[in-house]
Parts: sequence; C-alpha cells; structure tokens
Amino acid sequence: MKLDMTKQEEIKRSLGEKAATFVESGMLVGLGSGTTATHFIDSLIKRYQEGLKITAVSSSISSLERARSGKIPVVDMKEVSEIDLTVDGADEVDSKNRMIKGGGGALTREKIIASSSKKMIVIIDESKLVKVLGCFGLPLEILPFGYLATIQKIQKLGYTGNLRKKENAPYITDNGNYIFDIHVPDAFPHPEKDHQQIINIPGVIETGFFFNLPSAILVGYLNGKIAFR
Ligand code: A5P
Repeated sequence: MKLDMTKQEEIKRSLGEKAATFVESGMLVGLGSGTTATHFIDSLIKRYQEGLKITAVSSSISSLERARSGKIPVVDMKEVSEIDLTVDGADEVDSKNRMIKGGGGALTREKIIASSSKKMIVIIDESKLVKVLGCFGLPLEILPFGYLATIQKIQKLGYTGNLRKKENAPYITDNGNYIFDIHVPDAFPHPEKDHQQIINIPGVIETGFFFNLPSAILVGYLNGKIAFR
C-alpha cells in the first residue's frame, strides 16, 4: 500500500511521539535508524530537555549524531550488555511480527541493539504491514573482502539482487561493509529457511530478517489512529 508522502510523514511523527511516552527516567534507550526512528529521537530530545533522565545507545552514526545534537548522552555499545527499551522502524512486518529491516543499511547494528534489549517497540505506518515478507526485498550486509565470490554463492542458491550503490560507488555501511539487496518475485514464504541458508555463506555478515525480536508493534493508520497490533 502506498501512502501520500505528507500524510506518511505526519503518521511517522505521531508514532515517534507516542513511542517516546514509553521511555522512563533511568532507562538506557536503544535508538533505531531510519526516518520513523528519527521522529522518535526528536521526541525523545524534547522529553530529555523537559527533564527526562536517560542514556542512549545508537544503531547508526546518523541516529547518534541526531541524539547528540539534542544533548542526549549516548554511550558506545562497547560499554553495554543490556538495553532497557529500543524503539526502531521496519521495512516490512508480517502477521507473526517477523520483519525485514535494513532499508537504511543499518541492519547489523540494529539487530545487535534489538537482540540486546529487554523490550523493543517497532513503529511502522500501516504501509509496512505485509502478508508475506519480501515485497521490499532483502538487504544483506556483506564483507567487501571477496564480495564477488560471496555474491556468486548467494546467486547459486537462486537469489538475484544488486550491490547497493551510492554515487556510482558501492554503498558503505557504518561497519565499513557492502549491502547486497536480494529481490524475489514471490516474496519469502519460509523466511527462516532463507535466512539460514544465506547466513551460512562465508562473507555474509547479517540478513535483514528479524525474528522473535519486537515486544510490541505500534502501527500508525491513515485515519490518524495509532494502535498496538
Ligand atoms: C534502517 O537500516 C532500517 O532498518 C529502518 O529501520 C527501516 O528501513 C525503516 O526505515 P523508515 O522508518 O525510514 O521507513
């Protein structure tokens, strides 16, 4: 489902505001990445400036810079073993709360942050709800070393895709790696199986599949309603 851009932006802003109300003083908060997560960070900055006492850890350099621009103290993930609450967006969510993430290329850090969180709230507008994962494609983070050989192995399994580019050069993640975007004509009816065979390829660092991670999915609807699904 395609949503009008301005309307979609409005929904994302309300989702960010709503998600920020679940943050309590004393929490270590995981910051997601992407446009919806950025609205959450902006709302969190507002609450921080009103006196909320929090520390954050970030899934990307851009979210880190955004939070720091609002003076939120952000610690390095090297110093963290558990996060109280993470709020992040997603590219697709199915009825079993399985997700595809990585549209912004931050999937590996996002997955580490999500899997280290006691609670995770995923904020999405209703266009992200899907019957079967894969309409958007599946981002993979791959090591630059031997990347052509890695891509050939991915293709030998029957997956086609493209190396993500930025200004005619390979897109580089915050980890210094490449992104290979798989496109499938019929989506992924058995995503766990796809994840397993792709992640077994040497050189594939992470897939954009997220399983068993969110505690809650907060959906923003076109009619202005926001509800947990
Ligand atoms: C970043 O790598 C992604 O996983 C984002 O969380 C996802 O792409 C959703 O982004 P938007 O909120 O910008 O749609």
